Parts: sequence; structure tokens; C-alpha cells
Amino acid sequence: MRRGSIIQLVLIGLVAGAIGTAVALLVPWLPTAAGKEADRIHFVYWFTTAIAIAVFSVVTAVLGYSILKFRAAPDDFEDGPPIHGHTTLEIVWTAIPAVLVTAISIVSAVVLAENGKAGPDPLLVKVTAQQFAWSFTYPNGRTYGSLTLEKGRSAKLDITSNDVIHSFWVPELSQKQDAVPGQHNTIVVTPTRTGTFPVICTELCGLGHAIMRSHVDILSQADYAKWVSQGGTASGPPGLAVFQQNGCGGCHTFTPAQASGKVGPDLDKLKQEAAKANRGSLDRFVQESIVNPSAYLEPGYPDAMPKIFGQQIPKAQLAQLVQYLVQGAR
Ligand code: CUA
Repeated sequence: MRRGSIIQLVLIGLVAGAIGTAVALLVPWLPTAAGKEADRIHFVYWFTTAIAIAVFSVVTAVLGYSILKFRAAPDDFEDGPPIHGHTTLEIVWTAIPAVLVTAISIVSAVVLAENGKAGPDPLLVKVTAQQFAWSFTYPNGRTYGSLTLEKGRSAKLDITSNDVIHSFWVPELSQKQDAVPGQHNTIVVTPTRTGTFPVICTELCGLGHAIMRSHVDILSQADYAKWVSQGGTASGPPGLAVFQQNGCGGCHTFTPAQASGKVGPDLDKLKQEAAKANRGSLDRFVQESIVNPSAYLEPGYPDAMPKIFGQQIPKAQLAQLVQYLVQGAR
């Protein structure tokens, strides 16, 4: 092979490598990681991307050089020379990808094993999905509509569902985990920076899937201790806590609870709607709508309200919720 050819091959390869590197680095493909596990997963991405750019450069160099050098003349309609394979070449182009793919699988396996380790004292949080809200139960038995974590302390999330399959995802924490009824799937997250990040459902789960969101607050050690000592954010009327725990705000607008869901009827207009429905006193109408939501459907809304609240919400809490809604309604 002539020296000129090698220089041309290397030049085309360098240009291709530069383009590949620019596309990888200049486009923000990944969110900024907020957890140790996410850092490891991002490492796997970049490791794989580096290999992909190297392969792309070599293939583009050979392809580009062949197109430039061995192009047939416009009036050349002859068959090309017959070629009977090249054993050495075939062994090389089988062995190199095999080595690369094995390297990727080893790195992935190590990351997967590391990401499963929760350390000696993880915070245990039960994550429950239901159409169309998340709830988070802490070891002290309290339940919240959003997740609160402590920077630097591993948390083990025990994820399940009350109805259909959902999927838990915080982009900055990088891991997705299915929420399956009757099954407990776990992931470990170890936050590395403070901030508020979205919790997103990534499994099509029904009418309200697109708005099935919550958030995670990652607090510093001091702020987290303060949050724990104050018993979390569940202050206010007892009915508000019931409203938040059952994820009502995922689907309904209700100004007193700062809820702005759009799947179900607007609870700010409860009084007008109750008058239109004409199904007895406001208390009875609200209770019936929670326990037996199909009994009366507000015109323009489908029969999408889960039918589980009658069993899910204890009687005393149901009374608190009804009272809270009736008092807050305009
Ligand atoms: Cu829950 Cu999608």
C-alpha cells in the first residue's frame, strides 16, 4: 500500500471521527446526572459511544477512500473482478466486534451489579402508582404525593401499583422501573446534588398517562433533617392529606390544594355541577362520586375515574376528604 493512500485513509477517518465526536458532545443527549447510579449509567453510554465513533471512523475511511479511488468510469459497464473472500480479513472483522461487544457487556454487568447495592443504611420508601398519580410512603408510615430524598444517602425504592402497569422514571436519576400490580420491584438511588426533578410515568397506563407526574425534592442533610422533624409537608386540613395521598390532583383541578389536573371534572366548580347532577345533598353527591364514580358522569367526561377508592380510603379519611372538598368548593 502506498504512503499517499494511508494518509488519505487516515484523513477521512479523522474527519469522520471529528463529526461523530461533535454530534456526541454538542447535542445534550443526557440530562445532568443527579445520582451515583446515573453517573455509572452515563459512563456506559459514553463508553459505548466512544466505541461507536471509532468504528464509524474506520468504516467511513475505508468506504470513502473506495468511493473516491475505485469509482467506475461513467461509460464502464463491465463486471467487477471476481473475488473469492479473504480469510484473514474475515477473522479480523469478526474478532474485533466480538471483543468490543464483550467489553460493553462486562462494563454493563459491573454497573448493573453496583447500582443494585443499597449500602448499610438505605432510606426505604414505598412507591405506589395508580391511575394517575404517585404516592410515596416513608418508614414512619406517612404518605406524600411527592418524593423527598437526602443528598448522599442511598434510598431503596420499593415500587408497586394499585391497578395497571405504570413505570417510574426520574430522568436525572437515570433508572426506569415498572410498577406492576402484586409485584414489588426495587431500585436504589443515591442522590449527588440537591434540586427538584420530575417523576414521570413512562408506561402508557390510560387516559391520564401523559399527566401522571410528580416530583422529587433532593435536600441537603440539614434540610432533610428539618423536613423529617417537621413531619414533611402534610400540614393543613386532614382532608388535604387524603387528597394528596390518593393523587386526586393528578386528574382534578382544585385550587385549595393547588391541584390543576385536567383529566376529570374541575372540582372548583363542584357546587354548580352538583346542582346540575341533582343527586341529593352536596355531601352525598361528593361521596358517591368518589366511591361509585360511574353512578353519575359529568357531561363531557369519560368513565375514567378509578373504582378503587371505595375500598382504598378508610371511612374516617373518606369523611375528611368529602368535608374538605365540600368546604373548598365554590
Ligand atoms: Cu401511569 Cu402512565
